[in-house]
Amino acid sequence: MARGRITIFDTTLRDGEQSPGIALQPHEKAEIAEQLERLGVDVIEAGFPASSPGDFEGVREVAHTVSQPTVAALARTRKEDVDAAIEAVAGAQRSRLHVFIATSALHMERKLGLEPEEVVEQVRWSVGYAAGRADEVQFSAEDATRSDPVFLARVCREAIAARATTINLPDTVGYSHPTEHADFLRQVQLRCPELARVTLSVHCHDDLGLAVANSLAGVEAGARQVECTVNGIGERAGNAALEEIVMALRVRADAYETETGVAVGEIGRTSALVSRLTGYAVQRCKAIVGANAFAHEAGIHQDGVLKDVSTYQIMDPEELGLTMTLPLGKHSGRHAFARACAQAGIELEREQLNHAFARFKELADRRPAVTLHDVFETEVARR
Ligand code: KIV
Ligand code: ZN
Repeated sequence: MARGRITIFDTTLRDGEQSPGIALQPHEKAEIAEQLERLGVDVIEAGFPASSPGDFEGVREVAHTVSQPTVAALARTRKEDVDAAIEAVAGAQRSRLHVFIATSALHMERKLGLEPEEVVEQVRWSVGYAAGRADEVQFSAEDATRSDPVFLARVCREAIAARATTINLPDTVGYSHPTEHADFLRQVQLRCPELARVTLSVHCHDDLGLAVANSLAGVEAGARQVECTVNGIGERAGNAALEEIVMALRVRADAYETETGVAVGEIGRTSALVSRLTGYAVQRCKAIVGANAFAHEAGIHQDGVLKDVSTYQIMDPEELGLTMTLPLGKHSGRHAFARACAQAGIELEREQLNHAFARFKELADRRPAVTLHDVFETEVARR
């Protein structure tokens, strides 16, 4: 592929777990991590060990459970955070320390109460301390997209000089839009040519519903790691959804010219497991994994997919461990109705089919969903 391999950094167990009401037990984190390994993600960010003893244990358990993916742990630029992260990932086959600090004037002044020079010093110190204490070090400049690009470039240079191997520039509050995001990443790369020696990463939030679009714009602008979560769960409106990123890169490989190591056949199972263990239902209309993503209700569409599935489908759901459905409702057509009858073993003469279809339409105008049982039961009752 012309533009290479994209590293999929899954943060379901860290940023995803920051969704209100989610508190995964260590064994649940390990169960999800095992599934993420089957899914083929490159990096699993397992948690923020300094945030609680339970999270420390969760990261430790993930580190001892998986063997293929790199296991990452989050840390502020404080010694106690980095030490906790080092200890938590120590058992991993391949470990990554993920150190972050905010670089926007707003966050530095109002949240951290630090001068820019103090932030630079903390980056230099924490990344330098982390380097050599795990296999890889990632530095994230929190609120990067609202930071001064000149200052941000300087911070990136310092982090790389201190031996960071990945630099992540998050759109922490989901403020960017795709063209601006790509421009921003190009600007920072121009001002910090050293970024060519490390992996540039994007981490986009969905406050304006643009997380996936911004991540893909980031790939077009040279990012080679995308941070995402299963089902798009995460802080506030969530993170870029892993399944959407992976499938967009795959279905539109003609446009992105990249590939990932994700085994797409595991997408359906992974989504279902994360939904079950987090208690977060997937909305019906959600792309790729929503219950409606491969459901065709309108008669014209049902007729189309029955003749040639590619008329209304750009992916094969079976390939993702999912199924196409032709639900019977108000907008359904005769072809889908006849197919449903045949599949249910109901053999009908032409006249009987006409009659049953008319009855079905009558019911469908009054009910949100109609089953064959409804149609034929009322048929019998009428006789
Ligand atoms: O959104 C964000 O900025 C983060 C960082 C900690 C990477 O989650
Ligand atoms: Zn985040």
